[in-house]
Amino acid sequence: MSYYIVKKSKPLNGTVTVSGSKNASLPILAASIINGKTTKLYNLPNIEDVNTTIKILEYLGCKIKRDKNKVIINSKFLKEKQIPDELMRKLRSSVILAGAMIARFKEARFSYPGVCDIGSRPIDLHLKSFQKIGIKIDETTSFIQCKCDRIDNANIHLDFPSVGATENIILAAVLGNHEIKIENAAMEPEIIDLAQFLNKMGAKIYGAGTKSIKIIGVNSLKEVSYRIMPDRIEAGTLMIATAITGGNATIKGIVVEHIEPLISKLVEVGCEVNATKDSIKVNAPRRLNSINIKTLPHPGFPTDLQPIFSALLTLAKGTSVVTENIFENRFKYAQELKRMGAQIEQEGKNIIIKGVKKLHGANVESTDLRGGAAILIAGLAASGETKIEKIEYILRGYDKLDLKLNSLGANIIRKEV
Ligand code: UD1
Repeated sequence: MSYYIVKKSKPLNGTVTVSGSKNASLPILAASIINGKTTKLYNLPNIEDVNTTIKILEYLGCKIKRDKNKVIINSKFLKEKQIPDELMRKLRSSVILAGAMIARFKEARFSYPGVCDIGSRPIDLHLKSFQKIGIKIDETTSFIQCKCDRIDNANIHLDFPSVGATENIILAAVLGNHEIKIENAAMEPEIIDLAQFLNKMGAKIYGAGTKSIKIIGVNSLKEVSYRIMPDRIEAGTLMIATAITGGNATIKGIVVEHIEPLISKLVEVGCEVNATKDSIKVNAPRRLNSINIKTLPHPGFPTDLQPIFSALLTLAKGTSVVTENIFENRFKYAQELKRMGAQIEQEGKNIIIKGVKKLHGANVESTDLRGGAAILIAGLAASGETKIEKIEYILRGYDKLDLKLNSLGANIIRKEV
């Protein structure tokens, strides 16, 4: 168990480079089992979710060599067709391995991912789509078994542009002699990264990043080396951290167009934002304006930045309304911010934030990954000292966020119990 002690920060200043994307790494690691050959990945973040995914790949029979941000995966001798329950529980997104295992074996067995910290997160869209492409699904109380002889041609219209369901269909449909169309597909940049990775292996995936994706099955895939895209949510977190401290910092190694929904909101609250091709400089005033935010699928404002931007709005002039449209239980962190002096009331899927002049340090805990980051960012602006427990949530998805913030002038100490 570890915790953070965060002292009030001076305005953040300097330059920091973001790590590889968590949400792109997970499906790409899953996809690495499909070719039955060697895959080299660069820019892999050092985070717990990646560690767990690698453990699952090893359990399935992959031989893995990892050195800092590079990993070499040999999936030639894969033997298991079942994801063990304890690893499935540790990582909800392990459901993405189902599609990859179906591509490799025409078979996969896994337990239900279960309720998670930010909502119920069912997988009905994944399973319905699997059935549409000819996969038979047997659900028992504890396991889901997927099997097929071949993948059928199909046109799938997703009821909601689910990121995970879009990725799972792409993965399951990579190999074979079929043509699959996905309409109302998720358009997140991580979908583009997965498709680019698979296409580099020899897959035929067209339209990733738009609402209509076409997958033409191929007979086999080849060895591949691939660099994972930068983490747009980590970049956003660092930009918001700069803003809450009234700082002036540059976030490097990013793809600016991935972060545009955040840039326009930072400009609206009063920050000056200057972008080059792969970096963004945020220059924040001492006090920010209140604004309203609504989360939406990409290219709307990302739900993963909602808690972190809300932390910023607790110190804005006036009242802000934040609407969460993607996950039904993503305001738990608000209770923790209230302990630090924030004024937040929840009304259904909205929170109403009355900006205060000051936050104060308190003993708080992470409620989930991005909720934990929100509290950490609030701690930078709070007077005195903030103790944050349950930082395991933060470590699941951020690669050395404390050290990156410290390199810009923050004062965060990690302590082990
Ligand atoms: C991914 C991201 C997560 C991000 C989310 C939305 C990863 C590892 N995680 O999660 O960080 O917050 O996209 O951008 O990439 N839904 C259903 N049935 C389904 C699938 C989804 O009802 O079968 C619902 C979910 O409960 C949720 C909404 O659809 O309310 C969005 O989920 P989805 O886009 O699938 O998110 P994830 O892929 O789980």
